[in-house]
Amino acid sequence: MAIANIVCPGGTVVGIDRDPNAIEIAKKSLSRFGDCITCLHGNFAELDRLLGRQYAEGFDGILMDLGFSSMQIDDANRGFSFLRESALDMRMDRSSGASAEILVNEFSEEELGRIFREYGEERWWKRIARAITEKRKQHKIMTTTELAAIVEKVVPYGKSRRAIHPATRIFQALRIAVNNELSNLEIALPVAFERLKKGGRLIVISYHSLEDRIAKKFFVKNAKAAYVLQIFHFVYAAGSRCLKS
Ligand SMILES: C[S@@+](CC[C@H](N)C(=O)[O-])C[C@H]1O[C@@H](n2cnc3c(N)ncnc32)[C@H](O)[C@@H]1O
Repeated sequence: MAIANIVCPGGTVVGIDRDPNAIEIAKKSLSRFGDCITCLHGNFAELDRLLGRQYAEGFDGILMDLGFSSMQIDDANRGFSFLRESALDMRMDRSSGASAEILVNEFSEEELGRIFREYGEERWWKRIARAITEKRKQHKIMTTTELAAIVEKVVPYGKSRRAIHPATRIFQALRIAVNNELSNLEIALPVAFERLKKGGRLIVISYHSLEDRIAKKFFVKNAKAAYVLQIFHFVYAAGSRCLKS
């Protein structure tokens, strides 16, 4: 909305989200800007396919606001939050890909452990993966609260007031794996960079250190100038931007 207020009328704004619900809402709330805005359903990693031969002149700026939205986490049917009882889904786009339920119930103990270690940077990855595979011998793990309870049982809960819930990193790790967030970002960055005009700016807002690292590495390698801004708030958020030479 803020970008549209500056660019429209006269310019062009293209908005992309892989969540069809987000696209529907955006189309409604931005309808007053008319043809100036186009909302497309798809993955940033598919930018070339989504844009095709249109906008061949390139963009002055591309902003990737990564992660998931409050609308997604607040929706009790999506499975992003362990605070709400829901089916284990976690897909940003529910029309494709395997849900968290498939990963939790079908992936091997080793593969689950790797996901928790690499994407959740979880210290207790081994015992959590073991507890999940033990539990699912009895019955399928179907809900967010059930998964959170399994994790809670085997992880020592920090005594500090700032300690996060033991399931936080596990839910983050599963969400990253379900949505292929890191590989999508690795594919999307060079494609987006190619779509910039000379002097155009690529900006990435990231919400965890893994995607932040990928963006910074790419910028350092490719950009004429790269800037990093970090904001520590309720959740970690970091913005990086770079200028195309
Ligand atoms: C932090 S929210 C951004 C919300 C939006 N900027 C706004 O102000 O309403 C992140 C959004 O990015 C979408 N998203 C995350 N990764 C994506 C990707 N690889 N391709 C397309 N959309 C993605 C999510 O579905 C979610 O709606």
